[in-house]
Amino acid sequence: MKIGVIGAGYVGLTTGVCFSHLGHEVFIADKDPDRIGLLRQGKAPFFEPGLEDMLKKCLEKGGLHFTLDTSEIVAASEVIFICVGTPPRENGSADLSQIEQASRDIAENLNAYRIIVEKSTVPVKTSYWIERTIRLNLKKPVEFDVASNPEFLREGSAIHDFMQPDRIVIGVSSERARNILLKLYENFNCPIIVTDIASAELIKHASNSFLAMKIAYANLLADICEKTGADVKVVTKGMGLDERIGDKFLEAGIGYGGSCLPKDVKAFIRIGEELGISMDLLKAVDRINEERLLAFVDRVRQALWNISGKHVAVLGLAFKPGTDDVRESPGLKVAKLLLDEGAIVHLYDPQARENAEKILPPGENTLYFDELYKALEHVDAACITTAWEEIVNLDVDKARNVMRTPIFIDGRNIWECEQIIQKGVEYYPVGRPRGRTY
Ligand code: UGA
Repeated sequence: MKIGVIGAGYVGLTTGVCFSHLGHEVFIADKDPDRIGLLRQGKAPFFEPGLEDMLKKCLEKGGLHFTLDTSEIVAASEVIFICVGTPPRENGSADLSQIEQASRDIAENLNAYRIIVEKSTVPVKTSYWIERTIRLNLKKPVEFDVASNPEFLREGSAIHDFMQPDRIVIGVSSERARNILLKLYENFNCPIIVTDIASAELIKHASNSFLAMKIAYANLLADICEKTGADVKVVTKGMGLDERIGDKFLEAGIGYGGSCLPKDVKAFIRIGEELGISMDLLKAVDRINEERLLAFVDRVRQALWNISGKHVAVLGLAFKPGTDDVRESPGLKVAKLLLDEGAIVHLYDPQARENAEKILPPGENTLYFDELYKALEHVDAACITTAWEEIVNLDVDKARNVMRTPIFIDGRNIWECEQIIQKGVEYYPVGRPRGRTY
């Protein structure tokens, strides 16, 4: 098929490159000339395992095109995916102005039947506004369909998630759109749910909010475990073996970050409230998550007595391993809170330094390092904020020798307490009995 994609972010680029890899002819438009320039040279504008290789191969093979001009893709594609950003506004609701602009751009160039598919995370009923905007801005009468096909990929495993999804959701309002989209996905080996558009739109926000709720619940349990001497890892393992609960997304720690869960929970709260529905459940999820960071810094205080003037390493600035994305990054937020308390922070991340520096510029008390053990030199404590493999596999003996005091405050529960304290370090996990030998 001929497929158009508007927006070359995580979702758009992964979607476009994967469809191209599967043999479709793909046209991707983005308004950012630097991004399009990079992509045309086969360079991914962000770190996502495997994406750049696949991009290069698709470009070499032909059939993958990048453009600044949306009109080109509207003319060339039967199915057009809208994958532009829906960033949060001050009040938590999603800013849909890029979706509106994409809809106008499509309308102005539409001259044959097309299916316009929302793939970005959008509030329920957004398809109504896309349909209306296109209809009102058409230059001549043309038939078109709007559909919803939310994307569930995770950063860090985007290609795997796209190629082998747990499910595909298709929301349509016509038989014609249904058949075309089913054809597009016919070779995927997973359940396909075909439904009305509002339900499809809701599945995305409902899923992300549920995942956030699981994490918040695990974090609430961690607090109870800490007060009672129980171990949250054991408690969640015991719960997770119940198939109705499942063991995924029950890792307690420093809270969820990233460009999706925090924003989507807030947006879903606004959606519900605008419909007159009490969203207290999700408000509690949001609150529990924000409190994790303060609790984590309290833990640092507990370990160091006074934070002011202390050198503290923050290991991990990406919001999770496998990405260089620092949006809503717990590591960066912890670094800021420590700086506010007068600490000198030593920052390390194997991939995200460049992005982190844009948000938290280097300075007298904000020191960036390119090497893990250099970041640990002379520190009074180290915070573990992202579970990168390199950090999980840290040589604790080597670290202990360069740190001023060997204290680890772990926001990701990456080590086993018993084993780690035998190495002569003080270790503060989350929701687990801790050992102090130091
Ligand atoms: C999330 C969803 O998992 C995807 O299904 C969805 O497609 C995507 O948002 C989106 O809406 O585009 P992502 O933001 O890439 O994906 O990251 P996750 O893997 O969900 O992790 C989010 C945060 O939760 C991370 O900070 C992670 O460290 C944290 N987390 C995750 C926990 O604290 N505990 C857990 O048990 C799991």
